[in-house]
Parts: sequence; structure tokens; C-alpha cells
Amino acid sequence: MRAVVFDRYGPPEVLRLEDVERPDPKHDEVLIRVRATTVTRSDCGLRGAEYFVGRFFTGMFRPRRGAIGIEFAGEVESVGAVVTEFAVGDRVFGIGSGTNAEYVCERAGGVIALIPHGLTFAEAAAVADGGLSAISLLRSVGLQRGQRIVVYGASGSIGVGCVQVAKELGAHVTAVCDTKSVDVVRSIGADEIVDYLEEDFTKNGERYDVVVDAAGKHSFLRCRRSLRPDGKYITTDPGFMWHDVATTALSKRGKLGIVRYTKADLLTLAGLIAAGSYRPVIDRTYPLEDVVDAHRYVETHQKTGNVVLLVG
Ligand SMILES: NC(=O)c1ccc[n+]([C@@H]2O[C@H](COP(=O)([O-])OP(=O)(O)OC[C@H]3O[C@@H](n4cnc5c(N)ncnc54)[C@H](OP(=O)(O)O)[C@@H]3O)[C@@H](O)[C@H]2O)c1
Repeated sequence: MRAVVFDRYGPPEVLRLEDVERPDPKHDEVLIRVRATTVTRSDCGLRGAEYFVGRFFTGMFRPRRGAIGIEFAGEVESVGAVVTEFAVGDRVFGIGSGTNAEYVCERAGGVIALIPHGLTFAEAAAVADGGLSAISLLRSVGLQRGQRIVVYGASGSIGVGCVQVAKELGAHVTAVCDTKSVDVVRSIGADEIVDYLEEDFTKNGERYDVVVDAAGKHSFLRCRRSLRPDGKYITTDPGFMWHDVATTALSKRGKLGIVRYTKADLLTLAGLIAAGSYRPVIDRTYPLEDVVDAHRYVETHQKTGNVVLLVG
């Protein structure tokens, strides 16, 4: 089978498509024929070793695994001996490892579920990372019905997830994005939109219960005065200067968000999609062969929603 591989950290050009051995499912795994996968900011971070500390987990001098991609959608090709939850031919989606490939093996009990009716493979591949991150982040700040939340970076993968999950939780959502993304962000239900190229939301005199920095671009220090006295701030990306990280970590109101992907949350997300309360946002699609171009685009930090790779 063909898979995207890399054997050193670096720019998008370190990636290449290569023939590799097709994996065999273990007794508790399913073999999935991947129809669509994505390029996320996390993939770019892994490929470029964006944060040195990440090398402790992925390989100090070179990538230990050499495979890339975390989202997938496809069909079950075969199942391990003890798998009862899925059958050959099922359309499934979720979070895995090394998913920029024609086949992947995932544990049936892992972050994998049936694709909700009516979703294409491309759409299904594009929802898990943003949607699960949003559910996880908003749960960790305890967002309540009727509260006011700012989603900063509302047009990104995690941003479009946060807007939709916050609306589903009954919050009043102020979405911050740039001019080109205003229509998309309005279409997914934001109550108010602030175009950050024209206005700084921290200067509008409003106070919010929650500010979620879904882009890794807005520090706790910059927005703490926009929080109500018991308001909370959470960021997806601790990539600020050390004093921002320290202030966020030390403050009772600031949090560095750690996303945990779970099957339970994937099933919740599938339920929201089936009910029409959550929809995928796709910016561009590329054939798997053009993975380098897809990484170049994602690295601009200007995508709206998600970038999908079509396989086969
Ligand atoms: N904590 C975790 O476990 C975890 C997991 C996954 C990802 N992450 C991190 O979370 C961050 C967001 O990930 P993502 O996949 O959602 O990224 P993304 O899709 O690339 O989204 C980033 C969004 O940020 C906006 N943006 C870019 N520059 C901006 C600026 N100067 N001010 C305001 N908004 C700006 C862009 O929107 P506009 O077009 O409107 O500018 C873009 O849509 C990344 O830093 C990623 O590394 C964290």
C-alpha cells in the first residue's frame, strides 16, 4: 500500500509517498481502507518538530515512527478475531495514527465510530480533531448554558468546533476571525462576530465567562481584563513567551488545554452531526499525492476549517 512517510524533521518537502507493507489487524483491531484523511496543525507540528519538547515523545533526532496523519474516514476491510462492534464494509471515522495512508489498523475500542448517515468520507475525515478538541476543551472550563464565550481563531479546525459545541451547550458565542472567514463562521451559528483585522475584542468593554484561544495566538495576559471575575481562559497552544505560559499556568483563571480524544466524545459528536447540530467545514481538498502542497497551505495558518486528503 502507499503511505506518506518522512525520516527527518523539516519543511513539507521531507514528506513523500512510499510503498510500505499493508498492516495486519491484531485480534482486537479493524483494518480500514482509508478514503479520506486530513492535514492538521498537529501534523505540521510533528513534521517540523515545532516544539523541541515534542521530540521526547516522537524521537529526539529523527521521527521514531515516520508515519503521519491523525484523522481518517473509510471502510472496514477486515476485523480481528474478537471484534464484534464493526463488520466488513462498515463506514467508519475517527482518530488514529499514521492515517495519511491507504490502510490503517485501529483498535475497535479506540476512537472510532460509524459515520453518521449522509456524511461523505471527506466530511467525516474533517470533523474528529476539531470536534473532539472542542468538546474536551469546553468541558474542562465547565461552559454552562447562558454563559458568554469568546472563541478566538473561530475559523480554524478547533475554532469551528468550539463555536458549534458552545452553541449546542446553550452559550452566547462571540467569534473572532478575519474578514475572509466571517460568512463561514456566521453560517455555523456564532451570535456575534469580531473581525480581528478591524477590532480588538479586548477593547470593546465587554466581560466574558470564557475566552478560548483556539488558534494559539492570544495570550491570557492580553485578554484577562475581558474576563468576568470568575471567568476562565483556555488556550490550545502554549507556544507563547515563557511569561505568558507561566502566567496562564499560575493563574486560577487560565489553563493550558490538553485535548484527550475519546470514543465517548466521538459518539457524542456523531450524535450532534446526525441531529444536524454540527457540520464539517472544509476549506480545500487535495489528492494524497499532493500532501506536500497540503502541508504548505496548512502551514500558512490561514485555512478555514479543515484540509482534506482524498485517498484513491
Ligand atoms: N492542545 C492540544 O492538544 C492541541 C491539539 C491540536 C491542535 N492544537 C493547537 O491548536 C492550534 C489551533 O489548531 P487548529 O488545527 O484549529 O489550527 P488552524 O485550523 O490552523 O486554525 C488556526 C486559525 O487561526 C486563525 N488565525 C491565524 N492567525 C491569527 C491571528 N494572528 N489572530 C487570530 N486568529 C488567527 C486563522 O483564522 P483566520 O483566517 O480568521 O485568521 C485560522 O483559521 C494550533 O496551534 C495547534 O497546534 C492543540
